[in-house]
Amino acid sequence: MDETFDSRKFLKSLKKEMDEHETTLEAVRYAMHRIAETLPYYKWVGVYWLKGNTLLLGSYVGAKTEHTRIRVGKGVCGTAVKENANQIVRDVRERDNYIACSLDVRAEIVVLIRKQGRILGQIDADGHEVGVFDARDEALLEGVARLIADRLPDHP
Ligand code: SME
Repeated sequence: MDETFDSRKFLKSLKKEMDEHETTLEAVRYAMHRIAETLPYYKWVGVYWLKGNTLLLGSYVGAKTEHTRIRVGKGVCGTAVKENANQIVRDVRERDNYIACSLDVRAEIVVLIRKQGRILGQIDADGHEVGVFDARDEALLEGVARLIADRLPDHP
């Protein structure tokens, strides 16, 4: 991420804009569009929701993907859940468990959406240049993940 990008400012206005959307679905869809239009190196960005042992694709911006269901442990997405850890992949060609969505993808980032310590889903993004995602992207997406989690109901 470019050093001049002001993540705090972005998250502050995103929160306000998400609050203007009545449903969580609309707010999440809006957030994905806002990321993609603000940061053009996010060539694909979307949310997967965790249901049991499977990640289910929710709102996304970018090319249509056939990977609408990913088992925990599979791919970069499933690995994030299995290891309970965000993933930043510099070059997807270096990962044997990478599930290709598009042949143009080089870098990928996955940030978990947690509430009360439970993993509820994740934000997944693809870039077309090696090493395009870094710790600043992770921090930004963690902020977005928190805004999403805030809209989700508490677990009983
Ligand atoms: N590349 C991901 C699959 C999802 S697509 O990028 C949209 C993975 O390896 O899990």
